[in-house]
Amino acid sequence: MLFTKINIGVSLLLLGGLYLSNPTSFTNSENEYLSIKEQQPTPLQKSIARGKEVYTDFCIQCHMATGNGNGTTFPPLDGSDWLKNKRTQSIHAAKYGQKGEIIVNGKKFNGIMPPAGLSDEEVADVMNYVMNSWSNKTKKMVTIKEVALLKP
Ligand code: HEC
Repeated sequence: MLFTKINIGVSLLLLGGLYLSNPTSFTNSENEYLSIKEQQPTPLQKSIARGKEVYTDFCIQCHMATGNGNGTTFPPLDGSDWLKNKRTQSIHAAKYGQKGEIIVNGKKFNGIMPPAGLSDEEVADVMNYVMNSWSNKTKKMVTIKEVALLKP
């Protein structure tokens, strides 16, 4: 009887020591669960990832991988004040194309961007990509509904 009591006492002592030496090991599984949860991409992150592919297929040849355009005929998207200040017109440009004189970062452009024939979802995705790439950052996500509301 005494023997088991001592045994229990020793076991508790050992457990306690283990806990004190590494208390996190007892909560690790919960932490792992939380970090997996945090790694789930947000709807905006998912849209940006899809938008990158749209950009590569339909925009990169003019606006370049750097988003800098070519300095003469194709305007920049990275740091573009047009894109930043004219949200609706920019989404409209991606949906229906854009022509006529515009001023981007103080520089005149007067070219033609043909419409790429994208779906509303592709327009939303590619805009989320360009509005959140390079130095660009936009909190408000472009939604399919926002794109669908735009008329030619
Ligand atoms: C054939 C070349 C070409 C392609 C492809 C192209 N653009 Fe453009 N883009 C232009 C030109 C040229 C202008 C300026 C039009 C003007 O002068 O009115 C422009 C202007 C813009 C603007 C507004 C001005 C600025 O720089 O902020 C945005 C936004 C834009 N493009 C986004 C896109 C997106 C998104 C795609 C892909 C879906 C795309 N463009 C594909 C040539 C192109």
